[in-house]
Amino acid sequence: MSHETSGISIRLMDATDLGRGFLDALRALKPIELTEQQAIDVYRDRLKSRIRTYVAVIDDRIAGTASVFIEPKFINSGGVVGHIEDVAVHPGFQKHGIGRLLVEHLLNVCREFHCYKVILDCAEGVIPFYEKIGFHRWERAMRIDL
Ligand SMILES: CC(C)(COP(=O)(O)OP(=O)(O)OC[C@H]1O[C@@H](n2cnc3c(N)ncnc32)[C@H](O)[C@@H]1OP(=O)(O)O)[C@@H](O)C(=O)NCCC(=O)NCCS
Repeated sequence: MSHETSGISIRLMDATDLGRGFLDALRALKPIELTEQQAIDVYRDRLKSRIRTYVAVIDDRIAGTASVFIEPKFINSGGVVGHIEDVAVHPGFQKHGIGRLLVEHLLNVCREFHCYKVILDCAEGVIPFYEKIGFHRWERAMRIDL
């Protein structure tokens, strides 16, 4: 499924997007130090793990990205959960609705997989962004560093 609005198209990432500024867009989230080959290896590992990475493309450049993992569960009668990860819009393209378009696209993907809920972790500062899309605060995140 791809989506086109006012010169922005949202589609699944492919490896050639690494040459269209994909990592520069993702750096909005965190510094990234990967060689081109390492980035290709990560891309392939993510495909094997069935992580779906989407990109927002403007004039053949990657303006933003977001990923989703679809998890069929044993609990809830085999219900399906969508996990959103790594939403990032290149600083030069922020506040133009691209983040919202990406997340709404992922929500439609989750609907196609009949997810009964979609969850994500985020920093306090971006809670208003997700609330505007319709998310609400829910439970607590936990972490252990290994
Ligand atoms: C958070 C982020 C993805 C938002 O992308 P964006 O393209 O700038 O957001 P949009 O333009 O689609 O914003 C949609 C709405 O949310 C609002 N919004 C966006 N970021 C916001 C923020 N940090 N705080 C409050 N509101 C925010 C916008 O003003 C807009 O409101 P409107 O609909 O009333 O006009 C982007 O700022 C980013 O990449 N940040 C750095 C990485 C990051 O924190 N990612 C989230 C990881 S969980």
